[in-house]
Amino acid sequence: MRHFVTLLDISPLEARYILKRAAKIKRKLRQGKLHHVLAGKTLGMIFDKASTRTRVSFEVGMYQLGGHALFLHSDTTQLGRGEPVEDSARVLSSMVDAITIRTFDHETVQRFAKYSSVPVINALTDLTHPCQILADVFTYEEQRGSIEGKTVAWIGDGNNMAHSWINGAVSFGYDLKIACPAGYCPDEKLLSAAQALGAKVRLSDDPVSAAEGADLVTTDVWASMGQEEEQAEREKAFKGFMVSEKVMAHAKPEALFMHCLPAHRGEEVAAAVIDGPQSVVWQEAENRLHAQKALLEFLLADKDAKHTS
Ligand code: CP
Ligand code: NVA
Repeated sequence: MRHFVTLLDISPLEARYILKRAAKIKRKLRQGKLHHVLAGKTLGMIFDKASTRTRVSFEVGMYQLGGHALFLHSDTTQLGRGEPVEDSARVLSSMVDAITIRTFDHETVQRFAKYSSVPVINALTDLTHPCQILADVFTYEEQRGSIEGKTVAWIGDGNNMAHSWINGAVSFGYDLKIACPAGYCPDEKLLSAAQALGAKVRLSDDPVSAAEGADLVTTDVWASMGQEEEQAEREKAFKGFMVSEKVMAHAKPEALFMHCLPAHRGEEVAAAVIDGPQSVVWQEAENRLHAQKALLEFLLADKDAKHTS
């Protein structure tokens, strides 16, 4: 039994395998063919934070795989009233076949996984968002071919998405250039752990030099969920970190722009960039569905089903 609490819970080869399956699963859906490898299986989806893409892609994904998904918001479960994570994990995992959790503290997902008898998938914590990185790399490769050896520029907050791009550098072998203002850099422990595993990551506080020669430029909101009260302070700290047309002009002419969404036009990204010709944010959002179906299949389907096309 495997969990997906961070991208590094699976090997680079397994990550590659999941993306290969995502492409096949997407093609099959487009051809109108059924792919019910999870018939009779149920996914419990615990959300302590808001979501559009993650909730819908998991819920629709389970349906398309022939299974069923249960949306469990903390406002309406005993978990939200203080029932211990360990107890909830034991009870829920006795009834469902997999659990996905979106919460604040990364440690909550780790504790849940420890007491769960079924696979646990991280649907975003304050530390990482591993499902998003599968969809993002899948999107890049659909458009431009292998991401290995390419240069990815991350401009903005050293947040859960930045951390996921750092872990992705281990799994997918791209070079990562991060530009973040002082005080908002990625977690040092996570960064050095990834570097020890071979991630090539350079840090600076200069968006232009990060974008220079990049094949992909990506960013995220300046204040993540749970940091709403820091919005004004962060707007000051991140001044000059918007991905503008001027910043994009330093990337390769064929460079793509990505954003996990939701986005704030005129803050971390100019409207002309996110709505412009280099942006693939809509393909990226749709690919959450296909990448997560491949992940669910990998974690839940039996070996024979896993290797059918
Ligand atoms: N990108 C992403 O995870 O979006 P949601 O917050 O809408 O799920
Ligand atoms: N960094 C953002 C990502 C949202 C998908 C947040 O955590 O709110």
